Amino acid sequence: MTRPLLLTPGPLTTAPRVRRAMDADWGSRDPAFIALTAELRERLLVVANGAGTHVAVPIQGSGTYALEAAADTLIGPDDRLLVLINGAYGERMAAIARRLGRQVAVLHWEEDEPVDPSAVAAALRDDPAITHVAVVHVETTTGLRNPLEAIAATVADTGRRLIVDAMASFGALPIDLATLPAAAILASSNKCLEGPPGLAFALVDRAVLEGCAGRSRSTSLDLHAQWRGFEGNGQWRFTPPVQVVAATVEALRLLDAEGGAAARLDRYAANLDVLLAGAGRLGLELYLDRDLQAPIIATFRRPPDLDFAALYDALAARGFLIYPGKLTRGESFRIGCIGAVTPADFTRLVAALEPALAAARS
Ligand SMILES: Cc1ncc(COP(=O)(O)O)c(C=O)c1O
Repeated sequence: MTRPLLLTPGPLTTAPRVRRAMDADWGSRDPAFIALTAELRERLLVVANGAGTHVAVPIQGSGTYALEAAADTLIGPDDRLLVLINGAYGERMAAIARRLGRQVAVLHWEEDEPVDPSAVAAALRDDPAITHVAVVHVETTTGLRNPLEAIAATVADTGRRLIVDAMASFGALPIDLATLPAAAILASSNKCLEGPPGLAFALVDRAVLEGCAGRSRSTSLDLHAQWRGFEGNGQWRFTPPVQVVAATVEALRLLDAEGGAAARLDRYAANLDVLLAGAGRLGLELYLDRDLQAPIIATFRRPPDLDFAALYDALAARGFLIYPGKLTRGESFRIGCIGAVTPADFTRLVAALEPALAAARS
């Protein structure tokens, strides 16, 4: 059976080599797997140039597990978190922190507006109790890229700590921890790293994490204890998803072979260019201004006469899976540009879109 291409990040389309890496058993306490875990942690730091400042703490689970672990471990009960929100994932970070009983303040923007660093600076001036700021680098709700470097500089200038949900950007958009002042970068295996789902990770400033011993109220989501576990004997504290770790390491080797995040970003940008040119010809309207759109996932306005379920089925029948929209206002659908997919795949997608759109219009 031919598998469809997943334009649904994520899970997303992975390379055959990555899938083949899952075809083996590993003893979780065996030296070979301990070496694989060490390679995973090293390679994650290399992607963000963080070896000098940060430590890599993988955690079993989807990306949200890393978000929750970070909120639980890095933010104390006397701290106050400011969450910058322009989409569903910003809302989720605020909800996670609130549920953990943390003090939370929020700043909101419209879903088609980037976070404005000058408004962040003003909020930090007005509320000296804020100790931490959280932001989503690429808001997957829309595909909008927030100005991470400017936000980080603003947060650092006022002595606060920045926590970044880099779920949809890590491995493609530039994140240089040698120059970016961030306490923690949180991401997962199954987006721009092009691995399978099941592994989350935090890259945490070593000095910050050292100060967080015993703070987490969770056993499994305690990032400090997880880190000490790796440092102690190289092993995972609890059963690791061994096949997912093996495949993610293979995915990281492939990222390196491709030329790193910059080369991957170029491929994704080429994918997006083909998609947008074709979608434009077919009369589809991009939701965001083009300069705000990251080459990760594109949101299109759904014309009133277009039935999304019918479009989904018609594209699935032609070998492509796409995503529904996630906007709070207005109808939309989304098409991902990331994964082991190329501009040639998007040329085929555009060819499939024309009859699929016709079939889905009433
Ligand atoms: C920006 C962002 N944050 C967080 C998440 C949550 O990750 P997961 O569904 O893997 O828990 C996602 C998933 O799409 C995301 O795109």
